[in-house]
Amino acid sequence: MKYLNGKHILLGVSGGIAAYKSAELVRLLRLSGADVRVIMTKAATEFITPLTLQALSGNPVHTDLLDSAAEAAMGHIELARWADALLVAPATANFLARLAGGRADDLLAAVCLACDAPVAVAPAMNRAMWEKPATAENLATLQSRNIGILGPAEGSQACGETGPGRMLEAAALADGLSAVFQTGVLAGRQVLVTAGPTREAIDPVRFLSNHSSGRMGFAVAAAAVEAGASVTLVSGPVSLDTPAGVQRIDVESAADMHAAVMQAATSADIFISVAAVADYRPATVAEQKLKKGVAEVSLDLVRNPDILAAVAALRDAPFTAGFAAETESVENNAQHKRRAKGIDMIAANKVGDGLGFDSEENALHVFWEAGEQRLPVTGKRKLARQLVDLIATQFQHSHHQGKVLKFNAKDSA
Ligand code: C5P
Repeated sequence: MKYLNGKHILLGVSGGIAAYKSAELVRLLRLSGADVRVIMTKAATEFITPLTLQALSGNPVHTDLLDSAAEAAMGHIELARWADALLVAPATANFLARLAGGRADDLLAAVCLACDAPVAVAPAMNRAMWEKPATAENLATLQSRNIGILGPAEGSQACGETGPGRMLEAAALADGLSAVFQTGVLAGRQVLVTAGPTREAIDPVRFLSNHSSGRMGFAVAAAAVEAGASVTLVSGPVSLDTPAGVQRIDVESAADMHAAVMQAATSADIFISVAAVADYRPATVAEQKLKKGVAEVSLDLVRNPDILAAVAALRDAPFTAGFAAETESVENNAQHKRRAKGIDMIAANKVGDGLGFDSEENALHVFWEAGEQRLPVTGKRKLARQLVDLIATQFQHSHHQGKVLKFNAKDSA
């Protein structure tokens, strides 16, 4: 269940006797660090009360599609956008049929249809219902649409029969859901990430810095772990918890970050530079606290090393990806920056309009030598997963090409 920490999980509960196991599932998901919201069908509320699931999830339970008060608070589209993954457990034969039919005739079906995040179902029904061709066809349809099918198990059933159709136990469902986040596209790779701001000392108590929260870089590091990589995160001063599975090195100044990165870069396959590194630092750091008194003071600044460009210039440089926060001409400036720094990929975002530095959401326009892709506005964690997928694809492409080139060079020697 280790990939569930910090995830937004929507749990759909449809009307079957196995709904009683959903209570334990909610508890386990919360224990794994997930933020859980529950949607129940009308029939599900006959088996287990919304109050139970509300108490366990710590969030109001959603039941109505056409309730204006509920829609105003968090409607079906907001719920679908909020989710990092959606699991329907139990999924009755009727619900599977409705899902396969693309129905949107109650809140749960509508959210499943609106959701772009991974969707999985945990079938639960009587053995005979499970074995009917209609159910098998619905399952096949759902599988062909990349909907995950968790279970069912075999065993004794509430109806007194024995056979396939029992819903998986809560722990197995939580593990199955966790696996959704483990893509494996960077399995066996070493990924180095920088995050947060740097602090450039003026005197023992003052510094120059910026508004970077570190959230995007931490989300990128977490997404790289989910993709199967060994991840080192070099972070400036931020108030964020280290994502599970990440090796974190804390630094203060750009010079510290430069030193830590250059040491780690030699063993990295991929370097993702998300830190908002201060471009300048005071030329001298006063040994004692500067006294006020004079009306004006001036500060001499000198350039900091460009860490990303320095890594890209290494002889055996890793695949390098950087960020470009732009306020205008995003595409031109980003491509120019990518070439100037000699890096493989650049993720540009327009800062301002509430997006970027200190916000929860972001949007990116990613460029590489032979292509580009827009990643529209979404939460930073979701965006980070999409970006890591894109980086993995381009890394594999360049790695493969690199191998071919090296092979040819050796061949002709
Ligand atoms: O040139 P600019 O600061 O806009 O470039 C941004 C990108 O370069 C980011 O990926 C940032 O992490 C990286 N950078 C760096 N060292 C610097 C300045 C920026 O690694 N001194």
